[in-house]
Amino acid sequence: MLKYLILFGMFGLALLLLPVTQADEGPDLGPNLGKEATPEQIATWDISIAPDGEGLPNGSGTAIEGKVVYAISCLSCHGREGSGSLNNRLVGGHGSMSGSTPIKTVGSYWPYATTVFDYIRRAMPYNLSGTLTNEETYAVTAYLLFLNGIIDEDEIMDAQTLPQVQMPNRGNFVLAYPDNPDP
Ligand code: HEC
Repeated sequence: MLKYLILFGMFGLALLLLPVTQADEGPDLGPNLGKEATPEQIATWDISIAPDGEGLPNGSGTAIEGKVVYAISCLSCHGREGSGSLNNRLVGGHGSMSGSTPIKTVGSYWPYATTVFDYIRRAMPYNLSGTLTNEETYAVTAYLLFLNGIIDEDEIMDAQTLPQVQMPNRGNFVLAYPDNPDP
C-alpha cells in the first residue's frame, strides 16, 4: 500500500513541477534541441565553388609549388605523378571515355577545373581534409592540371585564371536543361 502511496505522491509532484518547467522555457514548447548557427559558423561550411569560379578564395599557386605539396600530402596514396591505382588515379586516361574501358581521372573526365579546387579543399588529403591552405590548394590543383597536360608548369592559378582553364572533356557534358543559360 505504502508503495502505491509513494508512487501516487511522486506523480502528483511531477504534475506540480510541470507548469513551472514550462514557464521557464518560455512560450516555445518545441524540443529545444541545438542552437542557431552563427553567420561565422555558416561561412566556414559554405565553401561551395561554382563551375564559373564563384566562391573561389584569394590566393594563388603554380604547379612548381604544387609538386612540393603533392610530395608531402598526396603522393603516399596517389602515387608518383598521380599514377595511383584503380580508384585513385589522377592523371591520364585521355580519350578513353568513349572506349570499352574508360579511365576516369581529373584530366580525362572532369568538366571544370574549379571543381578540382573545390574537391581538394573539402576532401583531401583523405585522412586530413581541411588542413591545406588556399595557396597550397591552388598550387596542388595547378600541379594536377599540369601533369594532365592542361596548363604549363609556371602558369599561376587563382580566382581569375582557374575558371578560364578548358578541361579536355568539357564538351562531352551536356546541360540537363538546355533552355536554362545558367548551368
Ligand atoms: C590517405 C590517402 C589519400 C591521401 C593522402 C590523398 N588522397 Fe586523394 N583520394 C584518396 C581516395 C581514397 C580517393 C577516392 C575517394 C572517393 O572516391 O570517395 C581520393 C580521391 C581524390 C580525387 C578525386 C579523384 C577522382 O577522379 O574522383 C582527387 C582530385 C584527389 N584525391 C586529390 C588529392 C590531393 C591533391 C591530395 C593531396 C593534397 C590527396 N588527394 C591526398 C586518398 C587519398
